[in-house]
Amino acid sequence: MSKYIVYKDSDVNSLPIGVFDSGLGGLTVLKAITALMPNENTTYLGDTARVPYGSKSEKTVTRFSLENANFLIGKGIKLLVVACNTASAYSLKALQEHCDIPVVGVIKSGALSAAKVSKTKNIGVIGTEGTVKSGAYTKTILDLLPRARVFEHACPLLVPLVEEGWLDNDITRQVIETYVQNFKGDSGEGYRVDTLVLGCTHYPLLKKTFEVVLGESVQLIDSAIETASTVKSVLEYMNLSNDKMPGKRFHQFFVSDLNERFKMVGRLMMGKELEPISEVDVS
Ligand code: DGL
Repeated sequence: MSKYIVYKDSDVNSLPIGVFDSGLGGLTVLKAITALMPNENTTYLGDTARVPYGSKSEKTVTRFSLENANFLIGKGIKLLVVACNTASAYSLKALQEHCDIPVVGVIKSGALSAAKVSKTKNIGVIGTEGTVKSGAYTKTILDLLPRARVFEHACPLLVPLVEEGWLDNDITRQVIETYVQNFKGDSGEGYRVDTLVLGCTHYPLLKKTFEVVLGESVQLIDSAIETASTVKSVLEYMNLSNDKMPGKRFHQFFVSDLNERFKMVGRLMMGKELEPISEVDVS
């Protein structure tokens, strides 16, 4: 039984999936979830007042994450998705201990998929400073594939470029080219990794530019898509899917700072207006 709200069994399936991120990047995960599970209701929280999480300490990110979880659970959700890679890397365990609904992060899904597709078992991971510092991807990949070699690299310039809407111009391409040099072999020729995990909410939006820069020899892992399929499996396994429930579906949005950028970039990312959207204090 939930320690927050008690639901009749019949209500539970129609409860929304709760998704939180430090800001708008988690909309990539939300989009993948709604594309894969069109019958699900969703509630999204973007902590736009306190973004970025990527450069903050583990203690602070965990405090913010628990506050976000409490907010969404208070609204009524059946499953929590931690769309933020930094929050998943630092705080998943604390969230799972705190919540009594299923909590799904993005790291395990991305790691599983990388372990599955990599032939050479040389795997690259890019993310925020926090995600890379935590070593969560390396640990999770090595748990699955002890003989893998994992090379992690922080790419702090990519989040601001995406938020500026610079997805495929010359500057963004040059920045990506510079970052991926770290995945070249000792001779400086070719890539020593055959798989690269896009370990940050924003990076799937740069996928095309990464493909142009890396060519076909490196497979890209989009953790948003992998996470959506994990969520689907968990809901099915727990008999929590909303497939059989009649009625209109809803998607609601909450932000801790309602700014024009969120609305504008959100519209670009989701391909439609984010509505209804409300500003809330989650702290
Ligand atoms: N959402 C963050 C992540 O996936 C990126 C933006 C931030 O630094 O807060 O790690």
